[in-house]
Amino acid sequence: MNGTKKQIRLAKRPVGTPKFEDFSITESPIGSPDGGEVLIRNVYISVDPYLRGRLQDVKSYVPPFQLNDVIVSGTIGQVVESNSAHFTEGDIVIGMLGWEEYSKANEKTVRKLDPSLASVTANLGIIGMTGLTAYFGLLDIGQPKEGETVVVSGAAGAVGSTVGQIAKIKGTRVVGIAGSKEKCNYLINELGFDAVINYKEENVAAALGKACPNGIDVYFDNVGGEISDAVFPLLNKFARIPVCGAISAYNKVEPDIGPRVQTFLIKTSALMKGFTVGDYSARFKEGGAQLAAWLKEDKLKYEETITEGFDSIIDAFLGLFKGKNLGKQLVKIGEFAE
Ligand SMILES: NC(=O)c1ccc[n+]([C@@H]2O[C@H](COP(=O)([O-])OP(=O)(O)OC[C@H]3O[C@@H](n4cnc5c(N)ncnc54)[C@H](OP(=O)(O)O)[C@@H]3O)[C@@H](O)[C@H]2O)c1
Repeated sequence: MNGTKKQIRLAKRPVGTPKFEDFSITESPIGSPDGGEVLIRNVYISVDPYLRGRLQDVKSYVPPFQLNDVIVSGTIGQVVESNSAHFTEGDIVIGMLGWEEYSKANEKTVRKLDPSLASVTANLGIIGMTGLTAYFGLLDIGQPKEGETVVVSGAAGAVGSTVGQIAKIKGTRVVGIAGSKEKCNYLINELGFDAVINYKEENVAAALGKACPNGIDVYFDNVGGEISDAVFPLLNKFARIPVCGAISAYNKVEPDIGPRVQTFLIKTSALMKGFTVGDYSARFKEGGAQLAAWLKEDKLKYEETITEGFDSIIDAFLGLFKGKNLGKQLVKIGEFAE
């Protein structure tokens, strides 16, 4: 295809909280797909906290971006040219694609979406990576049992809001910790959480004591830091702690030192286990099907914060660290053709 596409690249490795200037917006030719490739016009781009780790030159479960690389994340788009027997023009596909208007992708790296399962965007959220993270982290590691108390931090975000609802499906008492009054109201009024704590306005330790009169059996940790420090003294015997994320530490320049957890774990025989959703890739089909079924039965709800326009991608990403999103943060950069 003739013409040029805009792309967002890593310009500098951020020090502390990432800034707009750490990225650059460049233009390059769109080009055409080679054999076994498709050309995709990108429509929805997912921005995710874990990308912060990939901006740093450190070893992790995904390799870091190199300077000048186009940033890559979960993306949904539409095939505009196909040089693959498996795709035709107009197919709506999902894959790990660049922060760019058009992507060329090998046919093995993208898949067609099944429109009967849920809305298109749900594939980047509640039945996609973030929903699966909640599903496997909570059920496999957290193992919630009826009548138990489940606490989730980052509760109004994409993962946290799903965790709380699955915990309700399993018959537990659910306490959410989030960063604004609006988010807390949403968790109580829309998602049926039993109690909420606004960590920006309340003393988390005192509020947890009130909200969890029977202690805490499962703590789904999305944020780490001082919020998690307040949870450990309230753990019950044999508590389970799926460690999903530590967003409060992602932008710290100095090591994130806090109270040590060992004594709490020993006293309660608690299990604390880190995980990445990729650990469960062999079971994605099972998880996706269950999430889609709960969605159809109205047992799960989801919220999306969708910013519009290619030029809003960087700000949408930076907004995650300021709590600007309710539910899944996405960016819409185009329209699907009929
Ligand atoms: N292990 C895995 O495979 C996996 C997969 C997906 C995500 N994750 C992790 O799970 C967590 C949630 O991810 P998500 O995609 O669902 O993002 P999200 O929760 O939708 O968005 C991030 C939220 O984090 C909160 N936050 C930002 N800075 C914070 C701070 N300093 N202290 C406490 N809260 C803070 C903000 O909400 P408030 O307004 O409440 O502060 C913000 O809205 C992240 O830590 C992410 O890295 C892990």
